[in-house]
Amino acid sequence: MSADYLVISTSLNPGSNSRLMAVKAHELLNKRGKAEYLDLKDYPMPACDGDSAYADPNVPVLSNKIKNAKMVLLAVPIYNYSFSAAAKNLIELTGQAWNDKIVGFLCAAGGKSSYMSIMSLANSLMLDFRCIINPRFVYADGSSFKNDAIYDHEITKRIEDLVDTSVKLAGLSLSHK
Ligand SMILES: Cc1cc2nc3c(=O)[nH]c(=O)nc-3n(C[C@H](O)[C@H](O)[C@H](O)COP(=O)(O)O)c2cc1C
Repeated sequence: MSADYLVISTSLNPGSNSRLMAVKAHELLNKRGKAEYLDLKDYPMPACDGDSAYADPNVPVLSNKIKNAKMVLLAVPIYNYSFSAAAKNLIELTGQAWNDKIVGFLCAAGGKSSYMSIMSLANSLMLDFRCIINPRFVYADGSSFKNDAIYDHEITKRIEDLVDTSVKLAGLSLSHK
């Protein structure tokens, strides 16, 4: 059976900080309904070429999970003042599966200055797929983590707020259909 709430960790780094936030969000969502956690490192996919890459067997698996969810929380590394290429590749390969989703972000960065880096992803999901973006996104820099755990309680609180508001948005009947 498919999950209403999906958390996708997109970092390919074994010591990822965004993954720690994704795991926390999934733990909280599990108490609120049917939630599933996906890690992109378990679903290797070729770089999108707009052609044969769509035939990779992992593409329909991920597409169906996204399509069947009401709400998706994406945990993303911030690279080069943007979101990582692996996260972008996921969106490129799964495209229309994102139609009309409620989407929230958990961003891990090295420093504080890349705060607005997620906006190009938010814009593309809104414009291409009419997603509703939860503005309560979480942005955490390296100082928020210690010993493979979330160290900053403010970040934990923000993850709780993201989960609460995303569940509320997912419960509203917003589809135009
Ligand atoms: C190629 C690369 C580019 C990066 N670019 C930025 C950046 O523009 N801004 C920033 O704050 N941190 C940057 N970082 C640091 C990462 O955002 C940081 O390591 C973060 O923890 C990555 O998420 P992850 O731990 O979930 O993989 C970069 C790291 C790498 C490897």
